[in-house]
Amino acid sequence: PSVIVKKLFLDGIMVTVNQEIDFEKAQEIALGYDIIAEPEEKIDVIEELLKEEDEDESVLVPRPPVVCVMGHVDHGKTSLLDAIRDAHVTDREAGGITQHIGAYGVSINGQRITFLDTPGHEAFTAMRMRGANSTDIAVLVVAADDGVMPQTIEAINHAKAAGVEIIVAINKIDKPSANVDRVKQELSEYELIPEDWGGSTVFVPVSAKTHEGIDNLLEMILLTAEVLELKANPKRHARGLVLEAKLDKGKGPVANILVQKGTLHVGDYIAAGACSGKVRAMMDENSRRLKEAGPSTPVEVLGLNDVPNAGEILVATETDKEAKNFAATFVSEGKNRLLEDTKAKMSLDDLFSQ
Ligand code: GTP
Ligand code: MG
Repeated sequence: PSVIVKKLFLDGIMVTVNQEIDFEKAQEIALGYDIIAEPEEKIDVIEELLKEEDEDESVLVPRPPVVCVMGHVDHGKTSLLDAIRDAHVTDREAGGITQHIGAYGVSINGQRITFLDTPGHEAFTAMRMRGANSTDIAVLVVAADDGVMPQTIEAINHAKAAGVEIIVAINKIDKPSANVDRVKQELSEYELIPEDWGGSTVFVPVSAKTHEGIDNLLEMILLTAEVLELKANPKRHARGLVLEAKLDKGKGPVANILVQKGTLHVGDYIAAGACSGKVRAMMDENSRRLKEAGPSTPVEVLGLNDVPNAGEILVATETDKEAKNFAATFVSEGKNRLLEDTKAKMSLDDLFSQ
């Protein structure tokens, strides 16, 4: 603004920073300058976030599937995830206290699966809007004694909109009132037709209570993932998704991040939404400290200067300045009128001092 006000002044036009000028004058001025003041630093945040770099096949390596568990309230999503973890407790670090981090990894005979357990949650809505990059497979949990309910339908719509593969887990089959066929019937109205009925959707009857069918479900998830041939480049700056974040009294801002691409390291400069910082420490879902986290890994990240919003994208950058610039640009693009205040506060002396 100072440059423009000065230029106008020299042209004999006295204006204040928040004054309007006519289009012709604005155009004349704009044509006289490189409009982007600092080309190599200016980041088009939206562009940057949506950009899908073409990565060379040779740098891509297999990554674990990210599986979102969705469904109507009380149909047993959390119980199912607990059952999966209990059944494979030997694959986990002993003594770890599982925290609520919204996502965790399970290792099945050496093959990892990342589960997201905040499905009907705002984080998922944000993910859906960001595109299909975050979740690979949706496990739709439907209680066999309750059938298709409003949030079941909502979950189906979310998964379809995101273009994710749906696997149906018919839960609570241990209950006397369970009716698996009714669930199949009801879901076929939403184009989810079981294979034994001539369709192409995988249906797995399970019980989170007795653990019946759990291994079969995991097998189906791994089979589906295999077909998807999921890959990522672990050797680039990390990019991830904020699943949830909070302010912790002792630790400061804590963000639960799903690393989607690249590898996040302790010491990396990061930005997420309007926040920036440096990774001070990272923890997995068992509170083990990690030095680095590769694609499809959920981690708790300490070191941001503020609490980002769920659904915002985290990026690791080369320099501190870049991270700050990223966050600042996010703010300026999001609330682009913010500048007006600052401008109004500038005195004429400030304007001419440059
Ligand atoms: P929200 O997170 O609130 O949407 O619920 P949820 O889908 O996570 O359901 P949750 O796992 O909390 O289970 C709801 C209730 O169903 C609990 O009382 C569970 O004990 C019960 N439940 C879950 N799975 C089974 C099952 O396979 N059999 C039986 N009998 N009960 C189950
Ligand atoms: Mg739950």
